[in-house]
Amino acid sequence: MKIATILGTRPEIIKMAPIIDEIGKRGIDQIVLHTGQHYDKEMSDNFFRDLEIPAPDYNIHVGSGTHGRQTGRMMEGIEEILMEEKPDIVLVQGDTNAVLAGALVCAKLHIAVGHVEAGLRSFDLTMPEEINRKVADICSAMYFIPTEQSAINLLAEGFSRKDLIITGNTVVDACFRHLEISKKRGFDEESLKELDIDNMDNILTLTMHRAENVDVKERVVNIIEALKELSDMNIIFPIHPRTKHTLENFGLFDELNNFDHVHIVKPIGYLDFLLLTSKSTLILTDSGGLQEEAITLDVPALTLRYNTERPETVTAGGNILVGSNKQAILENANRILNDKEFADKMKNAKNPYGQGDAAKKTVDAIEKYYEEGILNITAPEDIMDSFTRKMTLIDTDITVVEFEQKENALVHMVFDGDEMRFPSDELNLKGMMITYDKRE
Ligand code: UD1
Ligand code: UDP
Repeated sequence: MKIATILGTRPEIIKMAPIIDEIGKRGIDQIVLHTGQHYDKEMSDNFFRDLEIPAPDYNIHVGSGTHGRQTGRMMEGIEEILMEEKPDIVLVQGDTNAVLAGALVCAKLHIAVGHVEAGLRSFDLTMPEEINRKVADICSAMYFIPTEQSAINLLAEGFSRKDLIITGNTVVDACFRHLEISKKRGFDEESLKELDIDNMDNILTLTMHRAENVDVKERVVNIIEALKELSDMNIIFPIHPRTKHTLENFGLFDELNNFDHVHIVKPIGYLDFLLLTSKSTLILTDSGGLQEEAITLDVPALTLRYNTERPETVTAGGNILVGSNKQAILENANRILNDKEFADKMKNAKNPYGQGDAAKKTVDAIEKYYEEGILNITAPEDIMDSFTRKMTLIDTDITVVEFEQKENALVHMVFDGDEMRFPSDELNLKGMMITYDKRE
């Protein structure tokens, strides 16, 4: 079996590293293809070094550009390589343009796509990431899904349950694997050593790069005004290159950089960043990955967005959406700082993203699908089964798997009162309304 991984940005490298590592450990043939969307060494190469994964086999070097141009160039480069390499499955991760380009190319070449971190939805179609993740899901053959809630999103859109595999999120694997190393090693970056973080209280780690925030001057101004008033905090801001460019263009970089309590530093390596995050009193971010890492590391997060495709972090109590609303940012930050009970409740929120074995579960499932021949995407030769989609209320003790065997059916959606549940094999359906496909 040959597995190809396509990645292109910082978070994809971080979240695919545990899977690349697991594939390598099992001796499975693999190639890694970098689109070159992120190219600064502190946004790309340094992560291969820190996470101890081999350098990519290919780099398409697409660089920066408009969405259409960047995605088109990626598709051209990816197609050429995959036609030559002929992998059995291609893995894409998350919701970047690499995911869109990779999934579309594979669908046309009839190569199975495994979407890692599938099923997330912000329900905001103005986000480029929402389009990317939805298109990728349509093109995929296997779905590696972080939580039951994300799996339910896919069921509600009509995806078949049989290929939905709940794994947790590989960011937990990456966090657990690297935090201990970084604790032993201490800070490495000169800029962080200079800040003497070990002796600093009230650290607020800030990251922002989301287009809908940093490309809109009014939103940036609101956020900066809030930061100005948070002068009790030591704000450490590893700045994303996109944000640096837009702050400079808006003429706001110097104003922010001149606040005594704000320390703007270059994007920092993963080991240093994990250590910084874990020592923080508060995380203020619009990053997807950081919302997950905050709840994994028991640090309260305020998310600078009006919606999130990670709602589990909010319902668990570890994350609060504050948008770019100055008042909401200040009220919540000050409460975390001054109200110990409130802060402790946020810190103790249960991590919804699993135990740190997502990579193992992902590769287990790929091996199983490969052995069963399910990764071969060919035009059907069997005459189509006829089936009818039905709905029924279950009034006896019966699990999903028992019901499916008895009825020759595939359970689709399950409603427990007004709540939708994920039909895991062992779920007892008594008292629940279900929809299912019945093979005739
Ligand atoms: C991309 C992803 C986003 C992800 C983020 C992770 C898409 C649509 N967006 O956003 O989902 O959360 O990566 O960080 O795929 N730049 C540099 N050096 C680099 C990379 C970028 O200077 O190495 C600058 C360029 O000016 C570029 C801008 O940053 O135009 C934006 O980069 P781009 O890759 O287009 O989007 P991100 O904002 O990084
Ligand atoms: N990160 C890092 N150094 C930094 C900022 C972030 O290593 O200076 C890591 C962070 O730990 C997380 C990932 O980058 O795992 C998040 O990437 P980003 O916010 O760029 O993208 P998103 O997750 O929003 O797609």
